[in-house]
Amino acid sequence: MPTNEQRLSRLEQMRAESLLGGGTARIERQHASGKLTARERLELLLDPGSFVELDAFVTHRSTEFGLDEQRILGDGVVTGHGTIDGRVVFAFSQDFTVFGGSLSEAYAEKICKVMDLAMKVGAPIIGLNDSGGARIQEGVVSLGGYADIFLRNVLASGVVPQISVIMGPCAGGAVYSPAMTDFTVMVERTSYMFVTGPNVVKAVTHEEVDSEALGGATVHTTRSGVAHLAAHDEAEALEAVRRILGHLPQNNLELPSVVSTSDPVDRMDAELDEVVPDDAQRPYDMHDVISRVVDDGRFLEVQPGWAQNLITGFARLGGRSVGIVAQQPAVLAGALDIDASVKGARFVRTCDCFNVPLVTLVDVPGFLPGVGQEHGGIIRHGAKLLYAYCEATVPKLTVITRKAYGGAYDVMSSKHVRGDMNFAWPTAEIAVMGAEGAVNIIFKDAIAKAADKATERRRLVAAYEEGFANPYVAAARGYVDDVIRPSETRPRLIRALEVLADKRDTNPRKKHGNIPL
Ligand code: HXC
Repeated sequence: MPTNEQRLSRLEQMRAESLLGGGTARIERQHASGKLTARERLELLLDPGSFVELDAFVTHRSTEFGLDEQRILGDGVVTGHGTIDGRVVFAFSQDFTVFGGSLSEAYAEKICKVMDLAMKVGAPIIGLNDSGGARIQEGVVSLGGYADIFLRNVLASGVVPQISVIMGPCAGGAVYSPAMTDFTVMVERTSYMFVTGPNVVKAVTHEEVDSEALGGATVHTTRSGVAHLAAHDEAEALEAVRRILGHLPQNNLELPSVVSTSDPVDRMDAELDEVVPDDAQRPYDMHDVISRVVDDGRFLEVQPGWAQNLITGFARLGGRSVGIVAQQPAVLAGALDIDASVKGARFVRTCDCFNVPLVTLVDVPGFLPGVGQEHGGIIRHGAKLLYAYCEATVPKLTVITRKAYGGAYDVMSSKHVRGDMNFAWPTAEIAVMGAEGAVNIIFKDAIAKAADKATERRRLVAAYEEGFANPYVAAARGYVDDVIRPSETRPRLIRALEVLADKRDTNPRKKHGNIPL
């Protein structure tokens, strides 16, 4: 029988062995390729010293293809829990030094265990991805393990926040786990995501492309919209996770935390009264409006590089977390196109499932016209944004800064889709369409008959603008609750948020809605 001392010594030996993953040579290779190890990443992600590892002694079960001789404690993924800003989170961190971080049966079970725990206790789950995908030697068992994770991604969706960080390869079906989480952060130059890699692409379509151009951080944060943020390095990516979580509650039954702020709740900003140009066709940067209104000008933009005609992100107002959705007049005049609709819909739903109030800043000339948009399904995609706003039950605040034309007026958190507090600036124009377009349609005959067509058109446009291109027609009907000075936007929004803090609203009981996908 071994003595207690021998037993303790064996434990320490095994612990030390498990910390080494695939061994020092592979750790050095990992560092040489500009990447941290799985454990180093967890140290950066979590509050110092808070990480508690689970399943450090799990090993793979397969004996095929020489796997019997290479059993590694922990088997390619480090799992456990820790805290971020003092709040419990669960995490898994794929260890590329062990079989390239490839996923085995036992490895999948480790991930499923922390996902199940996160669901049980109602805490976020964070996945740090760096993997060669399915462990080739394990075949279908590995595929089954992925499916077990996918199922949990879906069951956890809308229950606890799920965040993925891509810190190396993420290929094949493996991409679908991050794709089903709430946020995906990628590291520039060292991470990539694709369903089929460059070699398969070349064989099938004869296109020559490298990993970075096919599925790097830039591609997925500017063109595909697959990822939400690109970070310069791993530390920045992990910091982004911490910042996102700061705006979210632990789970769908809690509210986001309220933090104290030194930014006065009654702060007015006179510059806002001048931000909208007198010429309605001239753009301005909606970021200026956001940063002048929110606490300390701090805005965590989500998907800043994709569909830039719509701005989405988190900020605080009077210490309360809010999700901001705002048109960007400086890009495509703020028109809603397919990508912007999808981006906005996803963000609205993310905020709604985690009880984050929505603040919508509207300056929208309508949905973007064009054959490409129509054939691409702007009807189906635009409907997603409309659907998302209609179903959202969180407090919904709306400020129309300038244009709110056509169907886009309805979509953008209007009173009719349960906007709770809707304000308009005096510069707001709420109408079916812009004056030029309207006059060309409804006064076509009058203009045609006029001796001086240009003068007549100008007169009619001016008359239309006088009558309709203002907020008072809508205000007279209560479609906006108040017309406010731009400078008083911050205090008015904060008061509205306070009033709505205990808002209760529900949707009819159903299995689930059928959002147009
Ligand atoms: C087992 C793997 C592995 C895998 C890598 N390794 N991928 N072992 N299964 N899928 C091992 C390598 O043998 C090597 O072991 C170590 O990990 C590092 O791999 P390298 O190739 O030396 O590293 P690198 O040059 O950086 O290339 C990384 C890589 C490449 C691009 C990920 O390894 C690769 O292409 N792997 C295969 C990727 C793949 O096709 N996976 C299946 C995708 S389909 P040693 O002992 O030398 O350190 C899929 C389906 C998911 O995943 C299904 C979900 C439904």
